Amino acid sequence: MASGLTRGKDVISFLDKAVLQFDRALQTLVPHAATASRHSPANAVDDVTLTREEQKHASGLMRINHTGEVCAQALYAGQATTAKLEAVRQEMEHAADEEIDHLVWCEQRLYELNSKPSVFNPLFYGASFVIGAGAGLISDKLSLGFVAATEDQVCVHLQKHMAALPEHDAKSKAVLTQMHIDEAKHKEMALDAGGYEFPRPVMSIMTQVSKVMTTSTYRM
Ligand SMILES: [Fe+2]
Ligand SMILES: [Fe+2]
Repeated sequence: MASGLTRGKDVISFLDKAVLQFDRALQTLVPHAATASRHSPANAVDDVTLTREEQKHASGLMRINHTGEVCAQALYAGQATTAKLEAVRQEMEHAADEEIDHLVWCEQRLYELNSKPSVFNPLFYGASFVIGAGAGLISDKLSLGFVAATEDQVCVHLQKHMAALPEHDAKSKAVLTQMHIDEAKHKEMALDAGGYEFPRPVMSIMTQVSKVMTTSTYRM
């Protein structure tokens, strides 16, 4: 009888998690579905008119950053699903909440630039979820190390994009500047929580893999 009750609770907890995951996926992938908890840093900056070429280039870069945030959502969601320690699971969920702000800011900026998110986002969401869940299954230390390594790569990208944006696109730059501050903090949090520091060869493999995402989403 008791084991029947336990099984029943397990099923309910699994269904709860599945519904939450589905909700998070929808919030991430459906345009305008997510709400940021902080105002976009771009709101405080005056708009300037960009040339057609500048607008196209800025859109491409912001679309890459938006997809990066889609991947972050999926990665954290996957890791939270399989994390062994409750504290680690909570840390992943908290970080995912902060990434929602980035997602919304990038999306807002994309629409301001008369563009839209990448058509490949559902694909990248699925792949990142599986990678995150897999890392969480192996160990929390690996999972946290993966977060630190990913955030490190994101910081490098953001720095490159801040330099590559049209010089007077201060709105996009304001968004990326605040994201860079947050991502560096996420990296430190993951290392402080016990994440492995990945060796250089692993980091360069990750750089190669991320190129698939950046080249495909720049245009569409
Ligand atoms: Fe982010
Ligand atoms: Fe982050």
